[in-house]
Amino acid sequence: MNHHSNQIIRISCCHICGYNIDSFMNFGRMPIANGFLKKEKFNSEYFFDMQVALCDNCKMFQLINQPEPKQMFNENYAFFSGTSKLMVNHFKDFSNHVIDDYLKDKDNPFVVEIGSNDGIMLKNFAQKGIRHLGIEPSANVAQVAIDQGINTTVEFFDKSLAERIVSEHGQADAYIAANVMCHIPNINSIVEGIKVLLKSDGIVIFEDPYLGNVIEKTTYDQIYDEHTFLFSIHSIQYLFNQYGMEVIDVEPQESHGGSMRYFITHKGKKSVHNTVSNQLEYEVNIGLTKVDSFSQFKENCEKYRTNLLALLNDIKNEGKTIAGYAATSKSTTIINYCGITADHLDCIYDTTPIKQGKFSPGAHIPVKPHNEFKDNYPDYALLFGYNHEKEIMAKEQEFVKQGGKWITYVPEVKII
Ligand code: SAH
Ligand code: TMP
Ligand code: ZN
Repeated sequence: MNHHSNQIIRISCCHICGYNIDSFMNFGRMPIANGFLKKEKFNSEYFFDMQVALCDNCKMFQLINQPEPKQMFNENYAFFSGTSKLMVNHFKDFSNHVIDDYLKDKDNPFVVEIGSNDGIMLKNFAQKGIRHLGIEPSANVAQVAIDQGINTTVEFFDKSLAERIVSEHGQADAYIAANVMCHIPNINSIVEGIKVLLKSDGIVIFEDPYLGNVIEKTTYDQIYDEHTFLFSIHSIQYLFNQYGMEVIDVEPQESHGGSMRYFITHKGKKSVHNTVSNQLEYEVNIGLTKVDSFSQFKENCEKYRTNLLALLNDIKNEGKTIAGYAATSKSTTIINYCGITADHLDCIYDTTPIKQGKFSPGAHIPVKPHNEFKDNYPDYALLFGYNHEKEIMAKEQEFVKQGGKWITYVPEVKII
């Protein structure tokens, strides 16, 4: 049973700095991106109006309307990080980087991760006997970590939890996070929490989808209910500067179609790499600091929508079959914004058990187990999991051998 109230958070002021903001684009009526549902829930499905804005003052890109966090992150959360081998390796590298560069010389170091999900990152610390704590409010995914002996508390991180952690475990040497900071509307309270939690010589390292990549590649599918923000160096610098902390380094990542990793310390503790000023300059050059430049982004989104829908209609008019491949959270934006329906896609194949046998949010396209794909190859497969392209192409060579074709929409709509 889901007892959570259907509340929407609607803002007219920036989440970070309180400046007045206005939306520059409306993606229309959107369901919960990870809200895969059964038939009997179709009539009570939850929708919100998805609009985005750029704050002229602090440059934070953000949603104007958003479902309440408990509506998304609860005991039925459908995203299990460990389903991607690529990400398992990615987080192994991330952990080694943290250990080698920041923890190696510390005495009994303590690492805190928020949004630790099924333990994909923290298991690398746990295996090495490093003191760690995961903060993960979605009970079902947290349980997977707990079952592996990874210390996890089922809660939302904020300032008061940070205070409790400090009183129980002491301050942290490293605060790490991936793909969660951008999910948190009350991010100011998170940064206040970090301020309390982090030792004076501690390091904050987190990564999230990067606004620069979204604009350059028109990956508008990074915009969905969970992503309150799309960060840039400008906006992250503003956010942390408010609390006497500073960005000392940034490192672009390939994950999730283009992410950025931020390294942050209390102010004046470490020297600032020139990667920061270089990236700031790049952001000014591509227009991330001016709301006017986002009109091009809006036009690009509209163009890709038209092209993708036209391609799918053409294929259907030829009497061919199409299936979706990987029921990613991002696909919810593509499907509902472009107007893709169950007439276009027979189904979406996905490896996540909790999604299988259910229907996709909004468009209600059936989700089927990935292992049925090989028995029912469609003429075309629409690659919703483009961020896992290498892994998927490697394992689906037989589909192509049998004449199957892939449709992708990043960085443009095409058949490959
Ligand atoms: N770090 C993982 C999971 C990302 S999904 C990865 O990169 O694959 C985001 C996770 O953050 C979800 O599991 C969600 O339950 C959790 N989350 C959301 N709000 C949070 C908060 N305030 N504190 C801690 N975790 C949160
Ligand atoms: P993500 O893009 O948000 O990481 O979502 C990953 C989704 O893709 C998850 O539902 C599992 C699914 N998936 C597959 O179905 N097959 C695959 O080969 C991979 C890598 C992911
Ligand atoms: Zn602002």
